[in-house]
Amino acid sequence: MSKGFIDVVLGLQWGDEGKGKIADFLTPTYDVVARFQGGPNAGHSLEMNGKKHVLNTIPSGIFHKNCLNLIGNGVVMDPVRLMEEIRRTEEAGADVKNNLYISRKANLILPTHKLLDAASEKHKGDKKIGSTLRGIGPTYRDKYGRSGVRAGDMFDPEFKQKYQKAIERHLALMNHLNFDDFDLESLENEFFNAVDALKQYKFVDSEYFINDLINQGKKILAEGAQGSMLDIDFGSYPFVTSSNTISGGMTVGLGVAPKHVRSVKGIFKAYCTRVGSGPFPSELDDDIGEQLRKKGHEFGATTGRPRRCGWLDLVALKYAVMLSGVDELIMMKSDVLSGFDKVLVGTGYKDKSGNTLDTIPYDFVSAGFEAVYTEHEGWHDDLTVVRDEKDFPQSFSNYISWLEAEVGVPIKVISLGPDRVQTVVRG
Ligand code: IMP
Repeated sequence: MSKGFIDVVLGLQWGDEGKGKIADFLTPTYDVVARFQGGPNAGHSLEMNGKKHVLNTIPSGIFHKNCLNLIGNGVVMDPVRLMEEIRRTEEAGADVKNNLYISRKANLILPTHKLLDAASEKHKGDKKIGSTLRGIGPTYRDKYGRSGVRAGDMFDPEFKQKYQKAIERHLALMNHLNFDDFDLESLENEFFNAVDALKQYKFVDSEYFINDLINQGKKILAEGAQGSMLDIDFGSYPFVTSSNTISGGMTVGLGVAPKHVRSVKGIFKAYCTRVGSGPFPSELDDDIGEQLRKKGHEFGATTGRPRRCGWLDLVALKYAVMLSGVDELIMMKSDVLSGFDKVLVGTGYKDKSGNTLDTIPYDFVSAGFEAVYTEHEGWHDDLTVVRDEKDFPQSFSNYISWLEAEVGVPIKVISLGPDRVQTVVRG
């Protein structure tokens, strides 16, 4: 049988690019969809037949009957949230029992990891990161500190002791941070009930599982979460998440060698958004920002928080394309840009002394950059009803060609609305 491969699909901005819709749209051509990092801080929205489904930890292929879905070792998973998500997804008709596989090596988010997230944000005061408070940072801290509790441990007769050891450490930390506003007993009941329920699903040694699938000739889509500018190494540190969101994160988050990667697909929105704190040079604090938020429904799928909105930032986009070796681009929410006389794109940054640059420097967070823009003629047509590239308004086609030339990567898919049918694939 022919050899299988992996395509990676990931967000190139600050998350919320629309990865759920695209992964779901691409799924019919793949046998497997795998998540390799992050956890329930993600919110991947899928819209089918006018109904919206939000996935947090489960990969976006779950609604396709013949697609296997893998939660990889690089993911951190919260049994409580995962069980809630499984129930919702089963109610919506997905065959989770048969089609979901979970890595035994995925680290568990314990109740006290979520409390520690809140304690740490409170301690940071106005320097807080704006975390989703899902326990992501504290869980990865334990993983890399070599004291994490893993999914496979749930089946160990000594699980409770392992859990207890971790909890004691966490309680001491919270005591140190003067954080005591919680009811651990009820959180623990919820946690152990979820652990029991979760054990009926399939847990695997995922590195063998996925490499076997590749050897059997299967086509795999590795689905990133968050966005490249939230990467722990290359994002706007410390205003980042705690995992590697770029394509390199896939190899360690699944146990797959780089030689199996066929292509990297990068998703970006036709404008930019960000939730939480941290630099955003092309942010719009004005009427246009408000229009983008309203028209684009820019409120967090996971937390409901209003997203900060701004023009497309090409400096950040080119950086993300470089970091992940993006082969093809997917542009989302282009319809939201309809109705503006001028569409602006940030092509450089200006610091407080007026110096400009077109790369992301080490002092990105402290420099207080503002974007320098190029202007493009806008378009007023309703793009949500367009199904063919030849029906694009001329100024929109010009905008696409200009972006491709600037970034040096073709835009292969253009999304013009939340539904699967509102998607134009270009030759
Ligand atoms: P954490 O990953 O929950 O600790 O959050 C760290 C930062 O990443 C915060 O600014 C969050 O708002 C942001 N973040 C985390 N997950 C997502 C996501 O899926 N989409 C967008 N932003 C996210």
